[in-house]
Amino acid sequence: MMMMKSMLALAALATSVYAQSVTIAAPAAGTTFRAGQHFTVDIAEAGTREPSQDVSVIVALTSCAYGTGSCDQFDPTEMFGTILYAGPYTPSHHAGTPAGDVEYYQNLTLKVPNNFTPGAAYVNIAHLALTGAGNIPILDFENIIVTVKA
Ligand SMILES: *[C@@H]1O[C@H](CO)[C@@H](O)[C@H](O)[C@H]1NC(C)=O
Repeated sequence: MMMMKSMLALAALATSVYAQSVTIAAPAAGTTFRAGQHFTVDIAEAGTREPSQDVSVIVALTSCAYGTGSCDQFDPTEMFGTILYAGPYTPSHHAGTPAGDVEYYQNLTLKVPNNFTPGAAYVNIAHLALTGAGNIPILDFENIIVTVKA
């Protein structure tokens, strides 16, 4: 009986960990931006949002244009370059999005800095949520590689 209970607790924990992570629904990986251009970052959340509680996100644009010029040079969870947004994450439900799309999301309109170094760059995101009955703080990361031209 005790065994059964702890297995159920583990299953519940696994579910909530899954539910709290975010994905970058837009822009698409490989998108090219001009320095100074505005763009939309669509931060989406899959599945049920219970029992996790969203707190905040940080969105950065991190240049890979040094050394080899490749984004393989560093871990995007350990370096956030230019911070484009650091604030509340409050995704809302947008019913009627095309089938297969995630219906909970928040769009942020951000700007590539005018003087941003041309070349490959990460759009990297860190997302803070509270999860489970114990309100465990969890940080998850998501990133895509884009190109910035002058
Ligand atoms: C959010 O951004 C996506 C991708 O650009 C777009 O398809 C969608 O219509 C936007 N939703 C709202 C509510 O602005």
